Amino acid sequence: MTEQTSPDTIYKGLDGVVADYTAISKVNPESNSLLYRGYPVQQLAAQLSFEEVALLLWTGELPSQAEKEEFIALERAHRALDSRVKSAIDLLPLDAHPMDVARTAVSVLGANHPQSGDSSPEVELRKAQELFAAFPAVVAYDQRRRRKQELVEPREDLDYSQNFLWMTFGEEAPEEVVDAFRVSMVLYAEHSFNASTFTARVVTSTLADLHSGVTAAIGALKGPLHGGANEAVMHTFEEIGIDKDETREEAAARAKAWMEEALAEKRKVMGFGHRVYKSGDSRVPTMKQALDAMVKYYGRDELMGLYDGLEAAMAEAKNILPNLDYPAGPTYHLMGFDTEMFTPLFIAARITGWTAHIQEQRADNSLIRPLSAYNGPDERHL
Ligand code: SDX
Repeated sequence: MTEQTSPDTIYKGLDGVVADYTAISKVNPESNSLLYRGYPVQQLAAQLSFEEVALLLWTGELPSQAEKEEFIALERAHRALDSRVKSAIDLLPLDAHPMDVARTAVSVLGANHPQSGDSSPEVELRKAQELFAAFPAVVAYDQRRRRKQELVEPREDLDYSQNFLWMTFGEEAPEEVVDAFRVSMVLYAEHSFNASTFTARVVTSTLADLHSGVTAAIGALKGPLHGGANEAVMHTFEEIGIDKDETREEAAARAKAWMEEALAEKRKVMGFGHRVYKSGDSRVPTMKQALDAMVKYYGRDELMGLYDGLEAAMAEAKNILPNLDYPAGPTYHLMGFDTEMFTPLFIAARITGWTAHIQEQRADNSLIRPLSAYNGPDERHL
């Protein structure tokens, strides 16, 4: 096919375009459901560790006990912050956006990988697993250095979620918090051909290595129309003003007034809407339960006044519903993460999905290179 000047249709934003097959997840907007390798995400979030879900995404099947133990041993052995990554992070300003820090860290890990040029299936799976294990230390260290706190070494007696919170806050997190964190990781892990995953697949389609694909995906995730929305949700709450002393009703009324003004000004309100789901994001009810548990644990009922007020006002004005980032933002806030750290938490989870897609793309590759319709000046001469 040649490049045309007047094609029948331009699919702006590739909206509605089916780009390839995937066996990793099924997003079904009609039934508001999401399956990872055939399993409903709600069941996985209720019953499995994040480590088990990661293995399911990579291999296609639930792991045997032996496979699980082998992976857990590998994961625990690769948790410490690589000294070269630490040195690179230390060169970055303390107010560098944590997504920029994360992108740099993954790039440094890739450049130093002893098998950087080997993308055979066994090596690529192992690279994915090592990156999964190594990434939490990047987020934890960046959060701590921003607060002028010392690095906390990982602990081998803790699982992934417990250890993530331990390295970030330097104390063992209560069971309720660990569980809400684990649920968020499972829900954020995978979502078919979203912008960052598609980016990773485009990079892989050129036969570039896994770390290049993940680094590019982090860049795509940073924007507020995609992963950056969980951070932006919290900025909305902060803009409206969080007042611990007011009632839920008072907070809801202020949130409603803010939303009416924002929509009158034609602002995009982050955490609402979705390219695929038009009648609700399948992951929101499960994440909302985790948020409710955190609100109860920390005794912060007034925050839900803002939450409910914005949601009700958006539904009434535009019938647009929350996406996963809407309940995830305040959940991470209550756990004690700085707002700018929220999207790196999304990376930690999505490393699983991205790397599963990188492996799937490589296994049946075709260079991704669409056509464009030219609308510049007609041919002219110097
Ligand atoms: C994620 O793709 C994935 O799967 C992504 C994700 C994943 O797991 O990987 O689910 C994660 O990225 C969630 C989305 C996070 N982004 C936001 O929360 C940003 C705010 N939302 C929007 O900007 C928007 O809803 C998008 C970007 C998510 C989807 O945009 P589309 O499909 O391109 O739709 P659109 O922007 O063209 O909106 C259609 C209409 C417009 O109104 P009209 O011009 O037709 O009158 O809906 C309105 C929009 O203005 N609209 C909104 C809105 N979302 C849609 N209006 C105000 N606030 C919003 N949030």
